[in-house]
Parts: sequence; C-alpha cells; structure tokens
Amino acid sequence: MTGDAPALVLGIETTCDETAAAVVAREADGKGRILSNVVRSQTAEHAPFGGVVPEIAARAHVDVLDGLIATAMKDAGTSYARLAGVAAAAGPGLIGGVIVGLTTAKAIALVHDKPLLAVNHLEAHALTPRLTDNLAFPYCLFLASGGHTQIVAVLGVGNYVRLGTTVDDALGEAFDKVAKMLGLPYPGGPQVERAAGAGDAARFSLPRPMLGRPDANFSLSGLKTAVRNEASRMGRLQPNDIDDLCAGFQAAVLDSVADRLAVGLKLFGERFGAPTALVAAGGVAANQAIRTALREVADRAQTRLVVPPPALCTDNGAMIAWAGAERLARGLVDGQDAPPRARWRLDDNVTIPATFANTRAGF
Ligand code: KG4
Ligand code: ZN
Repeated sequence: MTGDAPALVLGIETTCDETAAAVVAREADGKGRILSNVVRSQTAEHAPFGGVVPEIAARAHVDVLDGLIATAMKDAGTSYARLAGVAAAAGPGLIGGVIVGLTTAKAIALVHDKPLLAVNHLEAHALTPRLTDNLAFPYCLFLASGGHTQIVAVLGVGNYVRLGTTVDDALGEAFDKVAKMLGLPYPGGPQVERAAGAGDAARFSLPRPMLGRPDANFSLSGLKTAVRNEASRMGRLQPNDIDDLCAGFQAAVLDSVADRLAVGLKLFGERFGAPTALVAAGGVAANQAIRTALREVADRAQTRLVVPPPALCTDNGAMIAWAGAERLARGLVDGQDAPPRARWRLDDNVTIPATFANTRAGF
C-alpha cells in the first residue's frame, strides 16, 4: 500500500445461515466504501426444520463460498494482488461454518501473502455505522438478532463494554419460537410482526420481563412460556387468536426493550458521557414497531437513532471486511494460528447468571 491509496479488504461471513463475501475500501481519512457485497441466505434449506441446523449450514457454506468470493472480487473489479488484507468472521457462531470461512480466508491470505484479519462477528456489527454513517465514537449499540441480544458501549476499535445481554433467549430467537408454537413459518419475526398488526394487544395479559430492574439485561423465556400457556389453554387456535397472541407478545417485547434500553443509555451516560448515537443492528431492527420504540427511547435520552440499511443490519460480508479494514489500519492483524471460536465475547467484565451458559445466545 502506498501513500493515500484506499486499503481494499475482502471479507467473509459464515457464522450462521448466511454465506457472504464482500470487498470494501477504507480511505486514508477513515471513510468507507463498499465495492461489492454478495450474500446467499440458507433460509430455504433450514425452513423445513423451523430453525438453523448446524450441519446443513456448514455444508451449504462449503458448497457456495468459493463462488461467492469470486463474484465479490469480480463485482469489485479488483484482484487478490491489490488487496490490503483478507478478513473472516472467526466467531462467535456455529463452529462448522466458522471453520469453513476462516480456513478459506487463511488460504487466500497465505497464497497471496496478505495480512489475515480474524474478526469477531459482534465487533463487525458494532463497527458497521462507521462504514454507513462515518459515526464517531463513543456510541451505544443495540444488537438484536436470532443469536444475540446485547447493549454495547462502542468506545473505539477493539474497545467495547457490554452493558446488557439476555439471560436466556435472544430476541429474534423468541420471535422465532413464538411463531413456531403458533404454527407460523420460519423465520418467525416478520410473520409475528405481520400478525401483530392485525391483533388486539390488550386481550391477553402477558408479563413484561425485567421491567424496572437497575441492570440492562433482557429475559425472554418467561414471556415465551406465558404465550405458550395461553395458546395451550385455548386448544385449537383461530386466526384471530394467533393475531392477538402475536400482538400481545410484541407489545410486551416493546415495553421490555424500551425499558432495558433506557437503563442501558443511563448506564452509558454515567460511565462514558453522552453517546454520539443509539445504533440498532441485527435482523430484529427490521421490525417497524421496535424501530418506533427505539426512536422514542433515543429522543428521551436526547440522542439520535442510527439504523444501518437492512442489508447491512443483518449478517453480511461488508461488515466483516470493514471491521478487518478498521483493525488493519491500527496494525491489529492475526496469524495463521488464529482459532475459530464458537463463543467469543466482546469484553470480559460483565458477570453473567449461571442460566446464561446453556443457550446459544450466550456468545
Ligand atoms: O441478523 P439476522 O438476520 O441473523 C442472525 O440471527 O444472525 O437476524 C435474524 C433474526 C431472526 O430471529 C428473525 O426472526 C428476526 O431476526 N427478525 C425479526 C424481524 N425480521 C427478522 N424479528 C422481529 N420482527 C421482524 N420484522
Ligand atoms: Zn449477526
């Protein structure tokens, strides 16, 4: 790399059920540009099982990854020789898939003699608003997907403090499980949102988990069980029953998210001063009702809400490439011995309840 030429980084994402590759450019002034971004979702492969099946996911990544990388390189109009680095998500996630992506990145880096960036998938979500909005540190991230539910203070590259997390299910996971128990197809989030729009949220009295607690943690399993109990009490469900249960569930989630984030922003302010923004990422940020609730929370906390475009909120290669580029610019490169990790926390200074250890949200 010479002078002020942008640094081009290839990014590979295979931690869950999306196979993705992208090339981004990081300018000398720190601004980012996406040169290519290709994603192949495995939703169709997993839909018959009502959730992601790890073995099917790993095999599907193997089948399509090489082709996706070739497409990403071609779309970007670049060559391996012109890359400044090769990044892959090295975790947290389903270990079979992580191995596929990380091994591929290592091979490319080795053959073309490029630095390897073994990126934390959560860090990639956390740094995305710097790619999309050139956002300055420090900001407060709300990450809510099928595998993660976290409130994170993003203070700098490699400098994250987790302010809150779920003690049981991830938020998207709860949407998916509620959908499944009500007979709605996978992935359940959009289905539940649609049904909720037609339902009466007041018909069922459902719990608001963790409301009023001084920490910023989440809990979804009690609410999920309450929905299940109501459903089995009624026996055979009519369409309006399903709509009303979805509406009740979503209303309870909104109250809980608003309360938890208000606490998270308060803790942020006490420890780090005013954030530059509240950032929402992850598939659940696609939910319009949740977005509205987040905007109100941000308003009350006198900050602004930043939500990257949907394709960059959900899993993608551009965020991995970008996190790699941000790390590379600071000399944070990895060796060929970088391990794939099923679990990989962004920080270590949060005490987690014992119940947290046995769920996939415990990354
Ligand atoms: O970030 P994402 O695409 O993948 C990972 O989990 O990593 O998030 C997918 C999750 C699923 O659980 C899905 O049901 C949920 O996000 N989701 C939604 C909505 N759209 C997607 N949850 C609630 N409302 C939605 N509109
Ligand atoms: Zn993700």
